[in-house]
Amino acid sequence: MARFDNKVAIVTGGASGIGLETVKLFLNEGAKVAIGDFSDKGPEVVKSLGHGGDVIFVKTNVTSEDEVKNLINTTVKTFGKLDIMFANAGIAKDADITELPLKQWQMTIDINLTGIFLSDKYALEQMLKQGNGGAIINSGSIHSLVALPNVTAYGAAKGGVKILTQTLAATYARKGIRVNAVAPGYIDTPLLDAVNPGMKEQLVKLHPLGRLGKPSEIAKVVGFLASDDASFVIGATIVADGGYTSV
Ligand SMILES: NC(=O)c1ccc[n+]([C@@H]2O[C@H](COP(=O)([O-])OP(=O)(O)OC[C@H]3O[C@@H](n4cnc5c(N)ncnc54)[C@H](O)[C@@H]3O)[C@@H](O)[C@H]2O)c1
Repeated sequence: MARFDNKVAIVTGGASGIGLETVKLFLNEGAKVAIGDFSDKGPEVVKSLGHGGDVIFVKTNVTSEDEVKNLINTTVKTFGKLDIMFANAGIAKDADITELPLKQWQMTIDINLTGIFLSDKYALEQMLKQGNGGAIINSGSIHSLVALPNVTAYGAAKGGVKILTQTLAATYARKGIRVNAVAPGYIDTPLLDAVNPGMKEQLVKLHPLGRLGKPSEIAKVVGFLASDDASFVIGATIVADGGYTSV
């Protein structure tokens, strides 16, 4: 029996990077998966996965309450229930506070923090209705824990994700719903493509391991947190960062 047989998972931001690798892990280990992403590439991504009707794409902007509700409802209509939510969608455009327009601050907070609030809120509502527990994994970051100059809105949002995770975990632990977060170091995904090559080299140096992470290395941590192996892991922000926060 595979780890996620008979489980239904949603992955927001599942059309790329860490989310996409997690979708693959869930599918390969038996789950049915709904990808909630606002990327036009969604249908193409679903086709390329080659898992037939076990995976669907629901076009979703995680900042829209109606669209997040639709994501949950469509998932439940298609697969019958919801067991796992990986609230992962995020962006990383940022700047020094003196150069960060209010609009850009708000967009980052909307996607990286409010998007998680909405994903968690409606996943919890569904899981509570089912009465059978569940697992929620939020996308944090090393910047949930430590700052870096000019990582302004992103750090504020990811810091918020850590405490939101702990609050929900404490509130719903006795209902059998485990809420945790993953805190990746810098991972080589399209999110980092905005960074210039010189900057990427600088980022590598901040990781004692001497390289950036791979999305599959984060997917494995999410898989652990989603599985029964993490039955006593509640409200944790699990760091997977090549040593970044150790120094
Ligand atoms: N790459 C890194 O170095 C790194 C490090 C720590 C944390 N993270 C976090 O991991 C998560 C995934 O990042 P990634 O590196 O895989 O990035 P990515 O750019 O490869 O993938 C992000 C996905 O989220 C989707 N998305 C963005 N905004 C959305 C919205 N409003 N609604 C729905 N979908 C939206 C994008 O379309 C994309 O498919 C993010 O929350 C990011 O902050 C990434």
